Amino acid sequence: MHFELTEEQKMIRQAARDFAQTELKPGVIERDEHQKFPAEQIKKLGELGFMGMMVSPQYGGSGMDAISYSLVMEELSKVDASASVVISVNNSLVCYGLEKYGSEEQKQKYLVPLATGEVIGAFCLSEPEAGSDATSQRTTAIDMGDHYLLNGTKNWITNGNSASTYIVMAQTDASKKHRGINALIVEKGMEGFTIGLKENKMGIRGSDTHSLMFSDVKIPKENRIGEEGFGFKFAMATLEGGRIGIASQALGIAAGAYELSVQYAKERQSFGKPLADHQAIQFKLADMATEIDAARLLCHRAAWLKDNGQPYAQAAAMAKLFASETAMRTTVEAVQIHGGYGYVKEYHVERLMRDAKITQIYEGTSEIQRIVISREVLK
Ligand code: CAA
Repeated sequence: MHFELTEEQKMIRQAARDFAQTELKPGVIERDEHQKFPAEQIKKLGELGFMGMMVSPQYGGSGMDAISYSLVMEELSKVDASASVVISVNNSLVCYGLEKYGSEEQKQKYLVPLATGEVIGAFCLSEPEAGSDATSQRTTAIDMGDHYLLNGTKNWITNGNSASTYIVMAQTDASKKHRGINALIVEKGMEGFTIGLKENKMGIRGSDTHSLMFSDVKIPKENRIGEEGFGFKFAMATLEGGRIGIASQALGIAAGAYELSVQYAKERQSFGKPLADHQAIQFKLADMATEIDAARLLCHRAAWLKDNGQPYAQAAAMAKLFASETAMRTTVEAVQIHGGYGYVKEYHVERLMRDAKITQIYEGTSEIQRIVISREVLK
């Protein structure tokens, strides 16, 4: 066992680190304040090959490994989790799912522009009454012979308005329960598809989260991913990889808050010496550093298992559970270390604290991760 990154992985990490400092940091406070989508920055991330990181070059991707993906997610999330969630959903939930389970035609038509960053994708599973309980899909896709008729509402959809390609889970045969669910590719602009209100969120305010409404939208049969009734398994399998992305996002949020805290503790004087000379602060920094390191090891292990074709559902759930809890604890402590300055926007840590919370909720709450882990443990 060795813990060294390859030269290529180090270079990719450095590219993401530089991008975060030069392109994401300026304007991140303003985008958060005004809920402004980082459109320009996402376009540039696409040019760097970060929108289809793990997709094969054959389909316009960069052919990188999952460890590199985790490194990029960490670095971008240290500075701007609103931008990194766009990267995560596009890579893990949309591109990965299409490359692994899509038909050749679907890959040519939809995956290539998604992987090159020409367009953005969205993954539509959650509903007003089906968040954690994802098998209870109320959105219907009635089989009409050569097409499905899609009706229903999806909620809290990341990239809801900025996307062009949507993967929508819908129930075709309710008698088959989750085995009657299909995953359908829906295009923006299809008749009967409307984008609802943008959510006014606590954190990741730069990302655009919307509800989506489908009213008799005709979806050609060739837009179904996989066999009839494969939709739920498709969603679960893509979410496994998605959890590595969100775990790495949580890790980045924690690491970003920690790095700011170390810097601040060295600069800020109190009681005649730097904060860093007070043991109360030293202990906080030691705990933060330890938990962040543990979260990073869990993220990299899950990514390594995925890269090596081994089962990684449990490892991904553990990484997400631990990293998101670490993000929450670390950012709360970072605000505490910054004192009054931590409570105002210019010092970034209050935003990181608000951003941290969503990592305990989306792509499966902490409770869902515990379900996934305990099922494996008790198997
Ligand atoms: N890969 C493939 N198949 C899987 C699977 C996986 N990882 N996990 C489960 N399945 C299959 C099972 O084998 C089973 O198939 P069969 O019935 O044919 O045997 C089927 O799926 C149903 O599985 P379960 O019985 O385990 O289903 P369940 O109802 O008990 O629920 C759950 C399991 C873990 C709670 C699941 O519902 C879940 O993960 N919920 C959370 C959903 C979620 O993460 N939502 C996030 C929305 S997306 C998002 O947040 C994106 C964003 O904005 C950033």
